[in-house]
Amino acid sequence: MSEPLLIRHAGQLVTLRGPEGPRRGAALGDLGLIQDGAVLMRDGLIEAAGPSNEVETLARETGHVVELDAEGRVVMPGFVDSHTHLAFGRPRLVDYEMRIRGADYHQIAEAGGGILSSVKAVRGAAPEDLETQARRAVHQCARHGTTTVEAKSGYGLDENGELKTLVVLAAIDGQPLDIVSTYLGAHFIPPEYQKTPDVYVDWMCQEMMPRIKRQKLAGFADVYCDRGAFTLEQARRYLSAAAALGFELKIHAEQFTHSGAARLAVELGAASADHLEQADSEDAAILGRSSTVATLLPGSVFHLGLDRYAPARTLIENGAAVALATDFNPGTSPTCSMPMVLSLACTFMRMSPAEAISAATINGAHAVRRAHRVGSLEPGKQGDVLVINATDYREIPYHFGVNQVAMTIKRGAVIYQQGEVVNHTAKENAADAR
Ligand code: NIG
Ligand code: FE
Repeated sequence: MSEPLLIRHAGQLVTLRGPEGPRRGAALGDLGLIQDGAVLMRDGLIEAAGPSNEVETLARETGHVVELDAEGRVVMPGFVDSHTHLAFGRPRLVDYEMRIRGADYHQIAEAGGGILSSVKAVRGAAPEDLETQARRAVHQCARHGTTTVEAKSGYGLDENGELKTLVVLAAIDGQPLDIVSTYLGAHFIPPEYQKTPDVYVDWMCQEMMPRIKRQKLAGFADVYCDRGAFTLEQARRYLSAAAALGFELKIHAEQFTHSGAARLAVELGAASADHLEQADSEDAAILGRSSTVATLLPGSVFHLGLDRYAPARTLIENGAAVALATDFNPGTSPTCSMPMVLSLACTFMRMSPAEAISAATINGAHAVRRAHRVGSLEPGKQGDVLVINATDYREIPYHFGVNQVAMTIKRGAVIYQQGEVVNHTAKENAADAR
């Protein structure tokens, strides 16, 4: 266990403290900011977060602590990336070039690319190789300030491929990030069931889900409900079986076509409905009256070169609990940068920087049902903290594509520290020193 750690003199301490439940409406823009704030961590947990003078006094009363001066920078909770497909084997660079030349997502799939090419990669991967790829991805997440990451299966589809993926995710849980595992067997209809998709759904409900539950390999179940994937009826059957087994639910909803999946999410009490690019104002109203988090994934819209982003403002106005996540995957969103997602959310969905930060931390924590442990800087929660190379939180989305994370702290221990630029010429070194 690491030594107690005090971070003092944060110019802006973003606490996100506040009432229980996800942030909605005007509260989404309330970061619980403290000027000149400090946070004290002990045994992996936050002991205090508040004005520097108060927290420093408390820290010194309680014996030895390691002190770190934030020197006026922003200190905030680690990002909770509540939607990723991080174990996928290898990137899909052929798809990328095809798309640049004008092919769309479905044409690429028909040409042998798309999800099925990742299925081939994952089925053929040695478990150690899949683990190496997933670990590297997790390290990238940590560098970009993510401290908790949801990760889905869904590129194996068959028994071996899905179990291999979930076992890899279990192996890297806590090393150093917390992984929230989701069974996404219903990501795509596997080649061997192309003509009998309902038989595949039955098999997942009757064989795979009970097995995954028994082996405690996933707490969530997710389904991709869209054209070319699963119908609303299949999604209902799959999720109802999952709920009966005790899984928490998620749905890939209203991504390319409007299917009614967002309403199904609410009806079944899903933890989140994700994507929502095609959601309408009625969906927004229904989500707004529910406890289902509306998880928006602008990275996939951006990478696919599309222009229809989810209607964030309508969702917020209707009181929906909006979260932001990367959707990190090799086909539609090959990034694990939450700061980049914040930039996209602000520019293309007109979320304010404060709203985007709440959506990427505390509301993401609600989307993975971990808000009692992560997502804000409050006593008793995990010491998952970022120091940002900026004095104003608005700089996080403002400097798009720039990683301003200076330090990532997980359970009270520093797991990432930004390095210095090396290989300077003597002239540049001299200029830096001035
Ligand atoms: O969330 N839409 C379905 N699933 C992923 C894409 C997966 C892939 O193309 O490999 C998504 O966008
Ligand atoms: Fe996804």
